[in-house]
Amino acid sequence: MDCQLTMSRDLEGIDVKVILEKTGDLLDKGAPEGAGARIEKQSVSGDKIFLTITSGRYVRPHDAVYRLKNFLSTHLGKEYHVGVRGIHALRYEIELELDKEPKKTFTLPFVKEMTFSGKSCRMVLENLDEEFLQNNYVDRIVTLVSEKIEAQHYEGKAEHWELMWASPEKKHAWDKDPTVEMERKNWIMHRGRGQWIYGPMATRIVKTFESIVLEELVKPLEFSEMIFPKCETWDIWKKSGHAKSIYGEIYYLCQPKTRDKEYWEDVIDTYKITGEVPLHLIKDKIKEPIGGVTYAQCPAFWPYVDGKTLADESLPLKVFDRSGTSMRYESGGIHGIERVDEFHRIELVWSGYPEQVREVRSKIIERYKHIFNDILDLEWRMAWVTPWFMAQEGLIGVKDETEKRDIGTIDFESYLPYRGTRKESEWLEFQNASNNGDKYTKGFNVKSQKGSELWSGCTGIGMERWLATFTAQKGLDIEKWPKEFLKRFGEVPQEIKFL
Ligand code: SER
Ligand code: ZN
Repeated sequence: MDCQLTMSRDLEGIDVKVILEKTGDLLDKGAPEGAGARIEKQSVSGDKIFLTITSGRYVRPHDAVYRLKNFLSTHLGKEYHVGVRGIHALRYEIELELDKEPKKTFTLPFVKEMTFSGKSCRMVLENLDEEFLQNNYVDRIVTLVSEKIEAQHYEGKAEHWELMWASPEKKHAWDKDPTVEMERKNWIMHRGRGQWIYGPMATRIVKTFESIVLEELVKPLEFSEMIFPKCETWDIWKKSGHAKSIYGEIYYLCQPKTRDKEYWEDVIDTYKITGEVPLHLIKDKIKEPIGGVTYAQCPAFWPYVDGKTLADESLPLKVFDRSGTSMRYESGGIHGIERVDEFHRIELVWSGYPEQVREVRSKIIERYKHIFNDILDLEWRMAWVTPWFMAQEGLIGVKDETEKRDIGTIDFESYLPYRGTRKESEWLEFQNASNNGDKYTKGFNVKSQKGSELWSGCTGIGMERWLATFTAQKGLDIEKWPKEFLKRFGEVPQEIKFL
């Protein structure tokens, strides 16, 4: 690294070289003998000291320069009343030995030159300020190179998937795509991309599901209802890990630059004249996004307990939210109700000591078995998969603890007859249940009264996914629906007729 230290005054008459010879083992601390950082070159000009520092993997040059800064401040300060004003790296060259050869080359922000040769990587960075050097951006860049190469080797590999349990095969009412048939009957209506209006009949089905969840799961397990915000701001996604990955799927939320009516007058007038909303004008009048519409639903709960210590008497903490939709930008063409941009989900969150978290999840799984087997009579299965929080952070393939069957996610999947045979077709993930370990309690700095480890779990119940499953297996003919479901369904709602 070539860097320059700007001093508080001209250094004429001060022999910096002699002073720097007195650093002793300053640049070796923390490294094996002889493997620390070294000053290769030095020179002084006016109020500046120029240094070329090299090192192996131990004391990085950007650490070394701060050790030197303190050293110089002490020595020059006492004798000559000179201080270090600033540090600036002119050029930073890094050579890395990689574990794996990259499959394709890539570039990185801040890195001016990046070349790979076999398992070596050479990077050149220029003009780095103190923020860059002091906040360890260099180390992050080095880590990121390995992570990206690791990800390249996993690309295309499937998520972890391991069957846990499967219901018996069932006889299904039909093998049609329920979305198409429900649209024909006006049970649902598509509104632009991935958003649907649910007519009275589809709504009644979904509300019946909801009442089943309340009666058969939420009440017996004593979860309390809460209302989580549906705008997730960047601070939440930084702590939840979503900020590492989800940018291509966010429905971004932007505030106007001002409420001032005059500011918006040209937009208003243009609309009144043309009848078209002038998006090109609006674009410049809104602020940068504050975050996006809720994505995973539970992260928005965590600020409630952020930095707090939970009392033992409140553990295991058990809450749920059903106060609004989540949104994800799904690419590709129009999908059925099983894959939507705006979806309705009931999300249960629990937290406690590890044993409590495990116990709540097993109770939840028992309740789900009861609901799917005895009430909805579904053909379904459970599988161990990559934890949802790792998948959503883009960490698929990174070693997870799934094989221990403790921390991690169970996916609930249903067979959709219209998609083909049981063996060959893709089953639908209609909900999940996870033990999230200390991922969220750590991320949001939540402590337990005993001071010992605190874990959490969550389960998201997707209403559209339940609807897709139920109608794909049971059809749209009420006569053929399971009795236990019909008991809870009530009167058939009045249809809205069109002429
Ligand atoms: N938060 C979890 C997820 O997004 C469960 O809903 O998958
Ligand atoms: Zn969740």
